[in-house]
Amino acid sequence: MHLINFKNLKGQQLMEIIDEAIEVKHKPEKHRTALDSKSLAMIFQKTSTRTRASFEVAMTQLGGHALYIDWRTTNFTMADVYDETQYLSRNVDCIMARLKENADLQGMAKASRVPVINGCDERYHPTQAIADLMTIKEKKGTLKGAKLVYIGIHNNVCNSLVEGCTKTGVRITTVTPIFNEPSRDEELLENARKTRLYESTLDVKEAVKDADFVYTDTWVDMEFFLDPKYAVEKEKRIKLMMPYQINKELLKESQAYIMHDMPIHRGYEINPDVIESPRSIIYEQSENRLYSAKAILLKLLGKY
Ligand code: CP
Repeated sequence: MHLINFKNLKGQQLMEIIDEAIEVKHKPEKHRTALDSKSLAMIFQKTSTRTRASFEVAMTQLGGHALYIDWRTTNFTMADVYDETQYLSRNVDCIMARLKENADLQGMAKASRVPVINGCDERYHPTQAIADLMTIKEKKGTLKGAKLVYIGIHNNVCNSLVEGCTKTGVRITTVTPIFNEPSRDEELLENARKTRLYESTLDVKEAVKDADFVYTDTWVDMEFFLDPKYAVEKEKRIKLMMPYQINKELLKESQAYIMHDMPIHRGYEINPDVIESPRSIIYEQSENRLYSAKAILLKLLGKY
């Protein structure tokens, strides 16, 4: 079993992972040796703080070992993904990869003899969405009927949230004036629409009124944020997106919890006064990456 997105997971299976993450958080001792002698290869073609740290620490705390592999230092750069993965999966028990292109990740999954976890590509970010759903369940006590409003660019994070929410009974409204074309997955959106739990609007004030959770993400993909070649597009996006910034004014009639998957670009998609407000659960959400990583690893390695 791989975790590339949630297409092959039933809602019930996803909820089991979320419940396991909550359990692991409260009973870490129970799982201290669960992955004794197991190794996780973590391959990164892009930068990361949370995904790298959470999976590496998760393996350590479960009694296993994680290898951080910078793509640029490997022979993945000059050989076929298929052949390199054939080798790698004969030496480790699980692979987590953050790759630029979903097509390469699919190639990796096809070649691998062990589970492959998508650590975020241009289309999906499933490990983030599991931590997000865990956080929603902790705060609300239930997923069914909770309302999340995602405000920002329709991107990989948004796709996985739409998929994860609609599979677990969370109502999700997206307010996304810009669609990141490399992220587009019409099949995913069509399946989400069929559940009647997913809708899209540009009326941001109306959307947040009865929201339980308001969520945002960067307006510019991480690999482009400091890239001078992307400067014109970045400025265009900032101008268009500024009216959709999460700030006190937008939330003045809302009691919603504030979420962000991080890294945060302060003063762009979210104003600092909101990040520090009592309604913000951003840092708890990021802490939950660790427990959700553990639950994902335990699931894919057959421990529950
Ligand atoms: N949210 C997230 O995936 O963080 P990193 O990019 O730091 O891993």
